[in-house]
Amino acid sequence: MTAGKKRILFVDDELGVLQGLERMLFEMSDDWDMHFVDGAERALAELSSRPFDVIVSDMRMPGMDGSTLLAHVHDEHPNVVRIILTGHSELEATLRAMPVAHSFLTKPCKPATLEEVVRRSLELQSLLQSDSLRNLVGGVAGLPVRPQVYTQLTEAIADPLIEMGAIARIVSADVALSAKVLHLTNSAFFGAKRKFVSIEQAVSFIGIRMLRKVVLAAEVFSAFSPKQSLGGLSLDQEQRHGLVCAGVARKLAPDPETGEYAFLAGMLHDVGKLVLAMRAPQLTRKLTRQRVVGQSFPPETEEEITGTSHGRLGAYLLGLWGLEHLVVEAVAFHHHPGVVKSSKFDLPSIVHVADALVHAIENERAGRSADVLVDRAHLEALGMLDKLDDWHSSARELWEREPG
Ligand SMILES: [Fe+2]
Ligand SMILES: [Fe+2]
Repeated sequence: MTAGKKRILFVDDELGVLQGLERMLFEMSDDWDMHFVDGAERALAELSSRPFDVIVSDMRMPGMDGSTLLAHVHDEHPNVVRIILTGHSELEATLRAMPVAHSFLTKPCKPATLEEVVRRSLELQSLLQSDSLRNLVGGVAGLPVRPQVYTQLTEAIADPLIEMGAIARIVSADVALSAKVLHLTNSAFFGAKRKFVSIEQAVSFIGIRMLRKVVLAAEVFSAFSPKQSLGGLSLDQEQRHGLVCAGVARKLAPDPETGEYAFLAGMLHDVGKLVLAMRAPQLTRKLTRQRVVGQSFPPETEEEITGTSHGRLGAYLLGLWGLEHLVVEAVAFHHHPGVVKSSKFDLPSIVHVADALVHAIENERAGRSADVLVDRAHLEALGMLDKLDDWHSSARELWEREPG
């Protein structure tokens, strides 16, 4: 881990731009140790000589461009957060950068925007305390998409008459696709003025033509290959768990707006398990062996084996991808909603209950004991414990509706 000031590396081929950045960000020099280099080769040399927390690179540079540079950083220094500055006309290069860049900013970039994106990335680092854990997440380009959903999506986008709603339904049927579509649409490159929480709105904002380009060009949208190991996790089961949790969480929410957030947080709450399974299948196998059937990984064992929790791993990735803070927070603390000091039944608690109910139903269906393992003291304190039975019945209905 980098001690003291956070270290940021800025890369551009034009010295004038670098000097401009230096002037523009001068006020941050108390908190940030900023280095400015002209060119990708120099950046790689700099990264090899000392640790950095964040890299901000221009896209268009002679020789190695920003996208190729970030691909190297992804491979060689995955713990470094990768931000790219691109022009609106650089769509193709931007698509190449999609698997390897965490944030996309468009030029000219306002100092406040750049500062905020760098600051937010640095704040997220407090979720994962060690470089090795950040390496684990930083090496993720995309999450595993279920092959049948991937096929549906590629067929749908090839259909000139397809409607937006149909595409949104396909994307929403897969946790990995949903997360990545929100990554794209929430990036400044596409010019959204706000963060999307609803997949439907995100898909209609990006448009079918653009989505077609992205799906065909970006390798992040590739189907999960059965040859890849997920450390004993079943992708189908994990996905069904996420999708049912999404529906249950929306049902538990006190109002429709919270419901949108709850749906997304419920859907994505366990992406950290997928991250762990993809990047550390052996550790995952240890965990899946030790888990009580029908329950999540036991938190103490998980902490001991991985040094963190799947909640934090997932939250770190989704945070780097620019997803809404409330969703990221709920993902981080879905097993410990009490960590977030709140006297309301809000997102972390909603996802916590939805998760526990869905686990109970999964157990019921498998003929095992079906206790709802919620933090009862926490729910009691919020005055919501007496609702649990009703919620359980609604959750059963939603489970039946979600195809297995
Ligand atoms: Fe979980
Ligand atoms: Fe879960």
